[in-house]
Amino acid sequence: MLHTKTSPIFRSSIFLRNYSSKKVTLDEIIRVDHAGELGADRIYAGQMAVLGSTSKGPLIQHMWEQEKGHRAKFEELIKRYRVRPTVMTPIWDVAGFMLGAGTALMGEKAAMACTVAVETVIVEHYNDQLRTLLEDPECNKELMEVITQFRNEEQEHHDTGIDHGAEQAPMYNLLSNVIKTGCKAAIAISKVI
Ligand SMILES: [Fe+2]
Ligand SMILES: [Fe+2]
Repeated sequence: MLHTKTSPIFRSSIFLRNYSSKKVTLDEIIRVDHAGELGADRIYAGQMAVLGSTSKGPLIQHMWEQEKGHRAKFEELIKRYRVRPTVMTPIWDVAGFMLGAGTALMGEKAAMACTVAVETVIVEHYNDQLRTLLEDPECNKELMEVITQFRNEEQEHHDTGIDHGAEQAPMYNLLSNVIKTGCKAAIAISKVI
């Protein structure tokens, strides 16, 4: 006799497989965003250390405050979802500050070029994540709302950088490409380790 019904054991193994692959995806999203927002916080801290008392200080401070909010949200989510942070956390802490301070030392426009490069990569990254999360919008509602809001704020940071002369920075294309490549590598690394 032909059995058309799926056995309970088989059904539960499908459920567990789907559940564990969703858990892996969510872990990866939260781990990498937690690392990214930590890095962003440190980049703006580095920029403020150099340019805080210049005319660009209030502008950078405003973006920094938003990054602190992003970081705090992912600190909350990483605890709530019990996700292991990337082992690279201490490295991104130092590297973020050095990138922010280093480009700021090259001048205000180079600092803005850094912002534009980083935020370009982050906006693309958040859009990729939103497409993934759309596979189950009901289950991923909260995370999608958080990422959508942050994506919009990162886009504002990008536009602010453009409006404040990023593209007139010395060696803009080289600087931009080096930073974008570094950010993409940091994202790839933070997803897995
Ligand atoms: Fe951010
Ligand atoms: Fe940002």
